[in-house]
Amino acid sequence: MRLSRYFLPVLKENPAEAQIVSHRYMLRAGMIKQQAAGIYSWLPMGFKVLKRIEEIVHQEQIRAGHIPMLMPTLQPADLWRESGRYDDYGEEMLRITDRHKRDMLYGPTNEEMITDIFRAHVGSYKDLPMTLYHVQWKFRDEIRPRFGVMRGREFYMKDGYNFDLTKEDALHAYNRHLVSYLRTYERMGLQAIPMRADSGPIGGDDTHEFLVLASTGESEVFYDSEITDLKFGDRDIDYDDHAACRAVLEEFTSRYARTDETHDEAVFNQIPEARRRVARGIEVGQIFYFGTKYSEPMGATVVNDKGERVPVHMGSHGIGVSRLVGAIIEASHDDKGIIWPEGVTPFHCGIVNLKQGDAATDGACAEIYAALVKAGLEPLYDDRDERAGAKFATMDLIGLPWRITVGPRGLAAGKVELTSRRTGDSEEMTPEAAVARIKAIYEGI
Ligand SMILES: Nc1ncnc2c1ncn2[C@@H]1O[C@H](COP(=O)(O)OP(=O)(O)OP(=O)(O)O)[C@@H](O)[C@H]1O
Ligand SMILES: [Mg+2]
Repeated sequence: MRLSRYFLPVLKENPAEAQIVSHRYMLRAGMIKQQAAGIYSWLPMGFKVLKRIEEIVHQEQIRAGHIPMLMPTLQPADLWRESGRYDDYGEEMLRITDRHKRDMLYGPTNEEMITDIFRAHVGSYKDLPMTLYHVQWKFRDEIRPRFGVMRGREFYMKDGYNFDLTKEDALHAYNRHLVSYLRTYERMGLQAIPMRADSGPIGGDDTHEFLVLASTGESEVFYDSEITDLKFGDRDIDYDDHAACRAVLEEFTSRYARTDETHDEAVFNQIPEARRRVARGIEVGQIFYFGTKYSEPMGATVVNDKGERVPVHMGSHGIGVSRLVGAIIEASHDDKGIIWPEGVTPFHCGIVNLKQGDAATDGACAEIYAALVKAGLEPLYDDRDERAGAKFATMDLIGLPWRITVGPRGLAAGKVELTSRRTGDSEEMTPEAAVARIKAIYEGI
């Protein structure tokens, strides 16, 4: 992409309405535009990051054996009357009446609809286990939408639902989701800590929230500092192996880590004082096991190997895809702007031409651009007729992790400059070496 032809409406001033850094930078970097309270358009660069995050979510769900599909945003109220949640959900549910006066709603989540799909098409234990998921817009009429996409009314979420014959199998699905979520967040450059939480209106007994530590987080969290040393890393895990998945759950949940809803001061105080941490966190996902809470009232049953009809055991598992865009910025920025982790960056590398219109620099930039594209990467080439300072400021604000700077002086010696956004370190090298370095960086990502 050439910046001169792109749509990147960067703001010079700090927008007054933004209270936290991610919201401020998303507005300043031209990633989003608010259309109504808690409802946003995703401008091209914001859209790109959203899609990168979604893609990682898909890859990791499919790796775990989960099946992608798509359900609509609008749902009939009758389904929710069956589960009893139509009245329980309260004012957060956006209720709509169609022209035939039928009660509809904009889905805040999909337990009822997926259960309806399941009961219509699945009848035998032989079809289990099964986990279906989708990534779809949700609407919750939050009383106080704020912090940009972090607490929107309309937001993008991955929600997955497991159907199992036994509680034991459903708990394996729970563990499998925990493992896949650890992988997912780490690929986005995030540490998200599973913490024991409260199940709220979804219902059920077992639930963990995944929290990214950040001073601007809305949840108060309490944890043993040892937990932050745990890394999932590049472990190869067999998602069908119950014991292996359970071992990961035990490893990541054996230390104290709870949100304020389940915090227990007496248990917390048993940890050595030097390791006790009270902090704030952003909830980027949650997993639930809730057994037969929906399958029983809605008649989602299968025939087991003894010929008996039994309700299936279920759980649901969500990742806040649009909230993650903000959460990643909260976790990765400096006073100049965003610092994208390589896994989610909208463009892999920026190219800054210090003397637009100079035949040599223009030619070198075009060659670097072509070489990066040939390597399967997406560069953003700042080919505008702007001062160097303005180009650097834009690059720093939008936060591409790598930048190649091309100027006449360096080129005379056959060199360009490769700069890391994170460390600010620059290195001179030939254009070919810079391209090779960028290629190598993204090879394992
Ligand atoms: N209003 C929102 N705006 C953006 N993302 C949201 C919003 N509500 C929930 N999410 C995201 O969707 C994920 C799954 O939804 P879940 O039902 O667990 O939300 P929740 O527990 O009600 O969230 P919260 O406690 O933050 O209101 C959450 O972990 C969060 O990342
Ligand atoms: Mg939650």
